[in-house]
Amino acid sequence: MTSDIPGFFEGTEMPTAGWWEALWPDPTGVLAAVGVKQGMEVVDLCSGDGWFTLQIARIARQVTAIDIDDAALEILTELCADLGPLPGVPIRLTPRVADVSKGVSLPRGARFDVILLGLALNELAPASAEPVASAVAQLEAWAGHLADDGVLLVIEPALRETSRALHAVRDVLAARAAPPFVFAPCLHRASGCPMLHRDRDYCHERVRYVMPEALAALARAAGLRDTDLTYSYLTLHRARRSLRELIAPGEPGVPLRAVSSALASKGKVELWLCGEQRAPRGMRLDRHASPSNEAFAQAERGTVLVVEPVAGGDDDARLRVGADTRITLAQHWRDGAAED
Ligand SMILES: C[S@@+](CC[C@H](N)C(=O)[O-])C[C@H]1O[C@@H](n2cnc3c(N)ncnc32)[C@H](O)[C@@H]1O
Repeated sequence: MTSDIPGFFEGTEMPTAGWWEALWPDPTGVLAAVGVKQGMEVVDLCSGDGWFTLQIARIARQVTAIDIDDAALEILTELCADLGPLPGVPIRLTPRVADVSKGVSLPRGARFDVILLGLALNELAPASAEPVASAVAQLEAWAGHLADDGVLLVIEPALRETSRALHAVRDVLAARAAPPFVFAPCLHRASGCPMLHRDRDYCHERVRYVMPEALAALARAAGLRDTDLTYSYLTLHRARRSLRELIAPGEPGVPLRAVSSALASKGKVELWLCGEQRAPRGMRLDRHASPSNEAFAQAERGTVLVVEPVAGGDDDARLRVGADTRITLAQHWRDGAAED
């Protein structure tokens, strides 16, 4: 769909459904991970024709979809009608045509369990002279519509610029002692994102995903990767919660989140990590491999590990994993989600 709608930012239009599937092959997985459940009030901001919205509708059975493009919302409404006859509770779709860059766009007083902004923030903020401040203000305004334990999920493409912009937004929000609170992906609250120290770094997720061959061929033709799902994200909570709560108070060990996959080379495995206090490069020599540190080599991007004891190297930027180091998996992205 293309149009001359005022406020519609070029590049944000919905491509064909096939291309979209190649770009983001597993919307249901991410919704399951966020905890969308039947009966929840969910709003999909910049929904387009409903790649995520339809999956939300299947699970929650009710969803508000907001987009500036009325043609996209018409398609979504038709597609949603097809879901209507599914057994169980009828589906309630509330489509709203609105320019989300002009204000909150949500009914006054409305509260939502989940607010989703998928692959759109980077398209909205650059219109402003101060894109980070503008994105923060928009997220704060939307977060004002969260239910007490509600969550605002921002998903961005796993590109360096879009991911780093999201890190900068996160830093502003994480430094505040007021809602919305940064829940994920970071373990640390107020300290700045270490990825912003060097221009080339950025943090993103990668989930294993094997595309059907027809889809993989389409992805290759479009110059996209033909396997796995990559993205950056930021989860904001109205309540003062953090991913740190994966580790019970008083539990021994230091939580560290993998920001790379385990990189095996001659005689060693390395892993880039990020934690509440430090962002070390972890290293385990193959000769130190043991049952207690096996999880180190199994970590994938996004995995939260609990490490005990944390032995440093000559500087704070290294973590040497010895044969006695105990490493446990506190969280893995696919926990609780259906396997492909
Ligand atoms: C890249 S698409 C993402 C669609 C959907 N969120 C997804 O992940 O599949 C961006 C969407 O943002 C919508 N959009 C762009 N500018 C907007 C604005 N100012 N207000 C509301 N929607 C907007 C476009 O119409 C388009 O549907």
